[in-house]
Amino acid sequence: MKIQIINGPNLNLLGVREKSIYGDASFETYLETLRQRYANITIDYYQSNIEGEIINKLHEIGFSYDGIVMNAGAYTHTSIAIADAIAAINTPVIEVHISNVHKREEFRHKSMIAASCRGVIAGFGMDSYRLAIENLSFK
Ligand code: DQA
Repeated sequence: MKIQIINGPNLNLLGVREKSIYGDASFETYLETLRQRYANITIDYYQSNIEGEIINKLHEIGFSYDGIVMNAGAYTHTSIAIADAIAAINTPVIEVHISNVHKREEFRHKSMIAASCRGVIAGFGMDSYRLAIENLSFK
């Protein structure tokens, strides 16, 4: 089984950025623990701050992978183009957020991409990614 994790803008700064909201672990450290826990799954990781690069990645892997875990960062709230890309591919996508976006500013309550996704997981810290993998790998 092959799962792609895609992180969008500013998520390269996890562990450095707004630690009270996003925690103090880097994504690379967390990814190691995920890969150990799901040793039977190939977990690929891609991060970009650029909307078009995220769309290109969805096109590239969205017809061959078994699942995509997508934290689109702030593009979640703005990007019709990413929503259209998710709708265009075959691979199921789960939208994840580290923080509980519904407890935060009102502009974070709206997701442009959620309707194109299988489901949404938010507010469990980094564990949001694991919960998405649990769903994608559950047979
Ligand atoms: C986020 C929530 C978004 O509103 C924000 O723009 C992010 C991170 C999260 O994981 O909690 O960059 O997607």
